[in-house]
Parts: sequence; structure tokens; C-alpha cells
Amino acid sequence: MSSVHAKISGVGKYLPEYVLTNKELETMVDTNDEWIKSRTGISERRILKGDNLGTSYMAERAANAALEDAGVDADEIDVIIVATVTPDYLFPATACLVQKRIGASNAYAFDLSAACSGFLFALSTGGNFIESGRAKKVLVIGADKMSSIIDYTDRTTCILFGDAGAAVVLEETQEETGIIDYIHHTEGDEDCMLYQPAGGSVRPATKETVEKDLHYIRQDGRAVFRKATEGMSDVSLEIMKKNDLAPQDVAWLVPHQANLRIIDATARRMGIDRNKVMINIDKYGNTTSATIPLCLVDWKDQLNEGDNLVLSAFGGGLTWGSIYLKWAM
Ligand code: UT7
Repeated sequence: MSSVHAKISGVGKYLPEYVLTNKELETMVDTNDEWIKSRTGISERRILKGDNLGTSYMAERAANAALEDAGVDADEIDVIIVATVTPDYLFPATACLVQKRIGASNAYAFDLSAACSGFLFALSTGGNFIESGRAKKVLVIGADKMSSIIDYTDRTTCILFGDAGAAVVLEETQEETGIIDYIHHTEGDEDCMLYQPAGGSVRPATKETVEKDLHYIRQDGRAVFRKATEGMSDVSLEIMKKNDLAPQDVAWLVPHQANLRIIDATARRMGIDRNKVMINIDKYGNTTSATIPLCLVDWKDQLNEGDNLVLSAFGGGLTWGSIYLKWAM
């Protein structure tokens, strides 16, 4: 193992102002506040309104907040990775637009697509650049404008998702701290349990794909629920075992926020108390690649040097994974 580690030195977030409540959803589809809360844990979510505003708008603002928090200038950044499944355009990458707007003139930039596991895959990738000595400072952003691919007449998906961006700055450290280990998995979703049917090279956008609503998320909720519950708890236990972490050694579980029942099941299997689990799904819903860095921002003031954090996610792909991080800000 390398003696150089990658630690998080700054965090930042951007949340759109518009709050879409369960009550408002009741006026849009056949649903109700009680069903949504009891089946998902969600009360409200944020929606990015405004013409010509995409994922880069949120990513840019989250990035600037993280840079300020870290006390790092944009031109010190070597690499920018944006995890997203809702890029502004298929190309150029959203990360390239962010690079220009924040003035990170010395950075190269690219997007990473791993759906709800996107931030974890991007964080470990950024960490690898630092551990290898190829980069000193990396900006890792999770941002998704999920409202751009949601069908607001489909009650099975429109209640779940929200828009947000959140970011971290990674810097090198010689201490045994920061990203200590990670385990990631993939199982190609040829059954199309969770996907966006059109807009890619198999079914490019046509009048017909638009008329058939094929540019919206499709999800087999029950099947994904089963896979997510199993995948997230298995990989979290796997990383604890590999690093000799007992439940009492874990200061915080930082889970992807897709469904409160998945989070609770994961924590139970890990033996972690509810009060050591970061949960903000009630306020933001599932913001895909932004959920985990949003938690880090919201809990920053409660984190202490040396705290052991287990970050875990499951998402489309199918992708899932876990990162063991020792807090060092
Ligand atoms: O982050 C990416 C990974 N994604 C996930 O992890 C999501 C995983 N899946 C889930 O979180 C859950 O499966 C959902 C929240 C999507 C659905 O919850 P569920 O407990 O699995 O409900 P269900 O699909 O089994 O549906 C139960 C009933 C159905 O009615 P019938 O057939 O029993 O009469 C649905 O039609 O609930 C109905 N239903 C609703 N009722 C009110 C589905 N959506 C709604 C709704 N409001 N919004």
C-alpha cells in the first residue's frame, strides 16, 4: 500500500431553492404523504427551476463552496471528476464546463457515470490519482438534475428523486488517514431493472422516442429494492471485515439515500445504531450522485479527526460499493 493517502480537505454543496413537497405531489399524481413517508422516508425534495440551467450550474456552485472550505485556489486543482447521469450534454463532459467556469486552468476534467454509486467510484478514482503521485489536488463532484429525466405522471418514480450538487477537495497526506480502502462491484443490468431507455446510441432521440416517453427513468422498484438492500449491506460488512472494524469502531455510516428502509436494513446488518447513521433523505430525496457528499457537508460540524466513516452506495448499472475513510479535516 502507498504511504501517500488522499484526504478530504474541503466540502461544499448547492441545493436549488424550489422545494417540491409530498403535498404538492399529491396534486400531480395519485399518491399521498403518508405512503411516501412510510415507504421511502422522503418528505420533500429540491428541484432546479429556470431556463437553461443544468447539472453544471449546481456542480459549479458546489465546487466553489468546497474550494473555499478547503482554502484552495481553483488553479491549484490537477483533476476534476464529475459523477453524474444527467450531464448538461452527452458531450462535452459537464466536468469540462465546470473546469472553465471555476477557472481551474491547470486541471483536466472528465465525467464518470456510475449512477447512485457515482460519487464513491469518483472519490476512489480521485484518491488513486493522489496515491499514485500523479495529482496533488483533485476536485470530486456529485451532481444530478434528476428532474430532467423524471416523468412527473409516473408515481412510482417521481416521488423519489431530487436535484442537488455536492463536492469535496482531495489533497495528499503522509498520515494514515483519508481514504484507507474501498471495495466496488458491478453486475451489468441487461434486464434493464433501472435505466433510461432512449437518448443513447441504441435508441437516439427521435419524435417517436419522445412521444413514447422513453427519455425518462424506468425502474423495477421491487427488484432494485431487493438488490440494493443486499448489495449495500454485503459490501459494507465486507469492508468492515477486511479492515478489522467492529461496529463500535465505526463513528458514522454514510449511506446513499435511496430509501430509508434500505438504509435501516444496512445499518442493522452492520450492527450500527441509528444515531450513528447520516440520514437526510427526508429533506432531499434521492439526489443520485450527490447524496453522500451532501451528508458530509451536513454532518461536517459533528465529525472529529480520526473518525472512521463507512460510505456505501447502490445504484443503476448495477453498481455498488463502499469506502472506508478516516476523517482528517
Ligand atoms: O438509488 C437507486 C436505486 N434505487 C433504489 O434503491 C429504489 C429501490 N426501490 C424502492 O425504494 C421501492 O421499491 C419503491 C419506493 C420504489 C416502491 O416501494 P415498494 O414498497 O417496493 O412498493 P411497491 O412497488 O411494492 O408497490 C406497492 C403498492 C403498489 O400497489 P398494489 O399493486 O399493491 O396495489 C403500487 O402501485 O404501492 C403502489 N404505489 C404507490 N402508492 C401510492 C407505488 N407508488 C406509489 C405512490 N403512492 N407513489
